[in-house]
Amino acid sequence: MTAEVKDLKLSRAGREKIEWAGQNMPVVAAIAETFRKEKPLKGWRLSACLHVTSETANLMRALKEGGAEVALCASNPLSTQDDVAASLAKDYGVQVFAVRGVNRDAYYRHLKLALSVKPRITMDDGADLVSLIHTNGYHADAPVGGTEETTTGVIRLRSLAASGKLRYPIIAVNDADTKHMFDNRYGTGQSTIDGIIRATNVLLAGKNIVVCGYGWCGRGVAQRARGLGAQVIVTEIDAVKSLEAVMDGFRVLPLKEAAKIGDIFVTVTGNTSVLGKEQFALLKDGAILCNSGHFDVEIDLKALKTLSKSVRETRPLVDEYTLRSGRRIYILGQGRLVNLACAEGHPPTVMDMSFANQALSTLYLTKNAKRLGREVISVPKEIDQRVAKLKLQTLGITIDRLTAEQERYLASWELGT
Ligand code: NAI
Repeated sequence: MTAEVKDLKLSRAGREKIEWAGQNMPVVAAIAETFRKEKPLKGWRLSACLHVTSETANLMRALKEGGAEVALCASNPLSTQDDVAASLAKDYGVQVFAVRGVNRDAYYRHLKLALSVKPRITMDDGADLVSLIHTNGYHADAPVGGTEETTTGVIRLRSLAASGKLRYPIIAVNDADTKHMFDNRYGTGQSTIDGIIRATNVLLAGKNIVVCGYGWCGRGVAQRARGLGAQVIVTEIDAVKSLEAVMDGFRVLPLKEAAKIGDIFVTVTGNTSVLGKEQFALLKDGAILCNSGHFDVEIDLKALKTLSKSVRETRPLVDEYTLRSGRRIYILGQGRLVNLACAEGHPPTVMDMSFANQALSTLYLTKNAKRLGREVISVPKEIDQRVAKLKLQTLGITIDRLTAEQERYLASWELGT
């Protein structure tokens, strides 16, 4: 068994973290229990490129219980929890290639090591594995299927599929209702605020917080910031989302207006250069900028550097850029996902559903990949429904059922008033 982690001696702390998260992931635990008995993944090699956190560790445990051989690398250089990585390698027999804070070269070397097991299934968060496979002519023993965890990854993969070059089917786990409606909204919402607070210890009450992007993640961040007493301003490029933000009670402004009054800015668009030169020129002294979108491209740090006379790390993962005018701008987590760089990412309760979808989609691929086309497909409705039902069960919540009369009524067109 090979691994590349920071220090195996960290494994004990990692194991405790994994067990703690596991207590709040009952759906994944139930799937792991079935996997343990039935070993449906026996003989399947799997490479996963995910944030190496205690929640991911519980997904890896479930896959191992199912009999899979698993290699894991990180999907972001700053999201790895080194103690968790150590425990996965030492206690759970996962081939882990992940160290927090690695440079770009080491990041890609780890991806290649994870692919060296010649996976039959890939599991991505941001499509870096699939992208590497497609750019490096990885032909031998090619994967038969894959899964994708996040919005940005799904966008990249749809573009690859549209170009006719996608070589194997990918299930867009992000698009399952039991994923994005909860993980992106409540997970990113809470953990982004957690990252801002842990990094800076600022009081959010009374601050002007600008949320750029009112998609699933942006809605969550805006809601939670409001809950802490901030004045929330939303910026958008989509008319419907903007209208939704207005009717949800937020102030919607063009970014050039918001830039002048914001105290804290959060980008969650999945887009590039949202905050750039034009906005930096307008920001107040002391403005705090962070990003919770997948890649570190939403804040144009190159431009900021060229405008600055000095840069220093003033607190861990808080970089102070002093502009030539003397104004200071603070960047959290080097512009990478602030919830993972400066906090611990999404709470386990919500990752329970995302990773239940991952585990069941993997199982689905082992049975169906051969008959699927080379395209990005949805999580089967039965899986989404099963995850929702299991989650409700674990929360002790029961719901009503349609009566036979109601079923007939909903299925008919003849009945009017
Ligand atoms: P989404 O597609 O639901 O929302 C993105 C929103 O940004 C859209 O409403 C779009 O109109 C808007 N937008 C695009 N360009 C913009 C611009 N220049 N200015 C203002 N708004 C703009 O996507 P979702 O699910 O909210 O994901 C957003 C990003 O967050 C993605 O990169 C995704 O991969 C990532 N993500 C991060 C997580 C984390 O742990 N931090 C968790 C889940 C997703």
